[in-house]
Amino acid sequence: MSTDLSRLDDLLVGERELWTDGPPHDTFRRLRAECPVHFTRRITEYPQEAGFWSVTTADDVHAVTRDWRTYSSELGGITALTDAIMPLELVRAMFIGMDPPKHDRLKALFQRGFTPKRIAEHEEEIRAIACGVLDGLEGRETCDLVTDVAQPVVSRVIGSFMGIPPEDDAIWARLMNATLGAGDPDLNPEGPEAVMRRDVPEIFERCRRLIAERRERPTDDLTSVLVHAELDGRGLEEHEIVMGFFLLVAAGNDSTKATYSSGMRALLEHPDQRRLLLDDPALIPSAVEEALRMFPAFAHFRRTATVDTELHGRTIRAGDKVVMWYVSSNRDETRYEDPDRFDVTRNPEHQAFGAGGRHFCLGTALARLELRILFEETLARYPGMELADAPEHVESPFVNQLKTLPVRL
Ligand code: HEM
Repeated sequence: MSTDLSRLDDLLVGERELWTDGPPHDTFRRLRAECPVHFTRRITEYPQEAGFWSVTTADDVHAVTRDWRTYSSELGGITALTDAIMPLELVRAMFIGMDPPKHDRLKALFQRGFTPKRIAEHEEEIRAIACGVLDGLEGRETCDLVTDVAQPVVSRVIGSFMGIPPEDDAIWARLMNATLGAGDPDLNPEGPEAVMRRDVPEIFERCRRLIAERRERPTDDLTSVLVHAELDGRGLEEHEIVMGFFLLVAAGNDSTKATYSSGMRALLEHPDQRRLLLDDPALIPSAVEEALRMFPAFAHFRRTATVDTELHGRTIRAGDKVVMWYVSSNRDETRYEDPDRFDVTRNPEHQAFGAGGRHFCLGTALARLELRILFEETLARYPGMELADAPEHVESPFVNQLKTLPVRL
């Protein structure tokens, strides 16, 4: 959507109407050129929330990400909204909402299981999940790639890591979609406040059952790792276990689904690029990186300044919100030639998983493997797939994803 940017001071980057059709790329293009660190004074829909700084270039996102002492993940939450959707106390119970040293100790419990080598051991199992879901489409002429393919595959993959029974996958998917896409009228018809009233209690209730089962009978899944974790000589408190579970399921669910769907849409809209992959499937890993660059699953994450500081000539005060827009930094023209062009041969570096630093995504190897398998299997089975209708975007300045992608198989 284009915006009148004649007065950049008045621009409110987080307003919902800018995001109805995906990220406002022309707004970000102009910010990178004219006001790379920009202040948005308010978030109209959430008047109780303070405004925020927008960081839009790759170098500045990198600088903020790397300096956790100046830019804290713990002080004020991890999205532009501090606690309008979820209380800060719960955000801080996830390691994505903690600073070192506690963050590092908790993350370390999981890192061994997420190395590329350990993740590669799951290739056969993940391919079987993807093939099972795609086999289920036999005989159909049309389907929705978001709800019929991406969602069931990513839910089962993260579900198997967490020890969720397959029959509960759809319930967890609904809870995650409603919580992360809280502002979207389709995902959350009753409005964002329903998340705290209805969804968070249900998450806690369901988790309590899983936790009780693991206490009685330890297993080798990640839920068991959380239940039996010890830090500083004590186990985690219940809300820390629940939110650890929420972090892994939410991160594993939403993000890979988002990148697959947006990447498939780009391939359907650019048949020349799809042809390259059909002729040479060895290009698929490069196409995965290009999809991650152009369509990062999270439009932003946020830090909070711990001290007065300077960034790109702007003075940021202690306590200010600092939002890193990956949807912008991944199209920074100082890093990418013709950044809005989808080019499966580009094999780019990007910031879709964050820009390094302490909070760099835990799930990169898993996400890359899932995406490669999903692209391989979808393209091999349906080389002539076409768009059947206009896809719809989730209305959110946080989750950058499609909610529908109707195709003719
Ligand atoms: C396309 C897929 C994915 C994308 C684009 C993505 C993106 C991100 C981003 C941007 C961050 C925050 C980086 C920061 O604040 O600096 C993050 C953190 C995280 N991601 Fe992913 N992610 C993906 C898949 C996954 C998967 C499959 C998992 C599996 C469990 C996962 C687990 C996590 C966790 C636990 C964190 C928190 C890390 C920390 O705070 O140290 N992600 N991810």
